[in-house]
Amino acid sequence: MHSFASPTPDATPVWLVDAGNWEGVKSSIGAAAAAFAEHCGFRPKAGRLQFLPGEGGTLAGVLFGVDEQSAPARDPFAAGKLATSLPEGVYRFANSPQDPDLAALGFLLGLYVYDRFKTTSPAPKPRLVAPDGADKERLERIAAAVAFGRDLVNAPANALGPQALEREAARLAERFGAGVRIVRGEELLAANFPLVHAVGRAAAEEPRIVDFSWGRADAPKVAIVGKGVTFDTGGLDIKPASGMELMKKDMGGAATALTLAQLVMEEGLDLRLRVVIPIVENAISAPAMRPGDVLKSRKGLAVEVGNTDAEGRLILADALAFADEDAPELMFDFATLTGAARVALGPDLPPFYADDDGLAASIAAEAARVRDPVWRMPLWRPYDAMIEGTVGDISNSGSGGGMAGSITAALFLRRFVDKAKAWAHFDVYAWNPKPRAHGPAGGEIQAARALFELLSRRYPRR
Ligand code: BES
Ligand code: ZN
Ligand code: ZN
Repeated sequence: MHSFASPTPDATPVWLVDAGNWEGVKSSIGAAAAAFAEHCGFRPKAGRLQFLPGEGGTLAGVLFGVDEQSAPARDPFAAGKLATSLPEGVYRFANSPQDPDLAALGFLLGLYVYDRFKTTSPAPKPRLVAPDGADKERLERIAAAVAFGRDLVNAPANALGPQALEREAARLAERFGAGVRIVRGEELLAANFPLVHAVGRAAAEEPRIVDFSWGRADAPKVAIVGKGVTFDTGGLDIKPASGMELMKKDMGGAATALTLAQLVMEEGLDLRLRVVIPIVENAISAPAMRPGDVLKSRKGLAVEVGNTDAEGRLILADALAFADEDAPELMFDFATLTGAARVALGPDLPPFYADDDGLAASIAAEAARVRDPVWRMPLWRPYDAMIEGTVGDISNSGSGGGMAGSITAALFLRRFVDKAKAWAHFDVYAWNPKPRAHGPAGGEIQAARALFELLSRRYPRR
């Protein structure tokens, strides 16, 4: 499913056609085929698909319209649309895509469907022979890791509660021989994860933290933290129906972290990886935390619960403080943290925050190179005033009335990081509202590919 077809002389050729190469393609397919395509109304426009008939009712080839290299909004994954529009069979690109890796990855990602609960049989899929010059195995590993992450996000909360998400994280760790430690329920108090406990204690399944370490013990330390809220009702400051609808995806940060961890471990990068996933369901029952409660965090800061729906930053506060104790060289966290991030940048462009300009520049560069877009936003210190507590040290909701909501959430997290040499926080959406060339509507993994590239450059396999 996430793999390319073996090369075969029978593969049906697909021509990627734009205004600039249409004349050349016409001469390679021959005058009769070109005349047929034009007769059918084919034009070299992005998204157009034209089948070319062969002898005896066969398919001789396919024309697929793409944007020219210079088009400002050109989608490098456009070829992904072929995965959902071609009939079953084996295909190859007849001419070289502008970026073979991205075109081929677009196709693999475009094959993805979440059909775990469908009782009807899945539609048969086309397969692609990897284009020349594409790094076949690496692309297959990326597609498989993204599919793993998407599956986690797409899983409904009744199928993926805290227990199941713990299992998924632990299974991944065990597959690569990583040492796993899990702390659950009341034990969280003894182990000093009071905020993870407070957020998750009202749910039927216990809150927990999964912590695994992998790699050469004396390699540079990299910590990855992900928000694992398997469902976010909002707690007592309950969300309206419209806001709760998609909240099975509130473990999207955990899914992103696990996707990146899988890539790092499979590639065998030379780093000491630590993955910390706080897992809770933000539910409503008698023991639920209340608005106004003051909680002492792992780090010692007294956190005032201004709003029980700002639960992500609470569990991350303890998880980040914990991962920070190791003084990692690099620390990343991923979280579906705020609605405000979506208001600012929309679903496809997650904001990230980092104080280290060098790190921020490398993240932006890798993101642009592999077309996994992210956008830096400021850890704007003057807004620290907005998250000051009234009776506690710091408030999880603040006094900004929702203004700069993604920034104040990031500033809140920053208070729990100090030993890490560099840290970046990603406020991801983890969801495609609409189908895209490289994936259907539903769970999406953002920023993991970009960071995998960054880590691959800094800590190449030995
Ligand atoms: N999980 C939500 C944030 C969210 C909402 C992400 C919609 C993606 C889509 C988070 O726990 C939350 O509810 N945040 C509140 C914080 C507020 C109460 C300070 C928000 O963003 O409104
Ligand atoms: Zn919430
Ligand atoms: Zn949440």
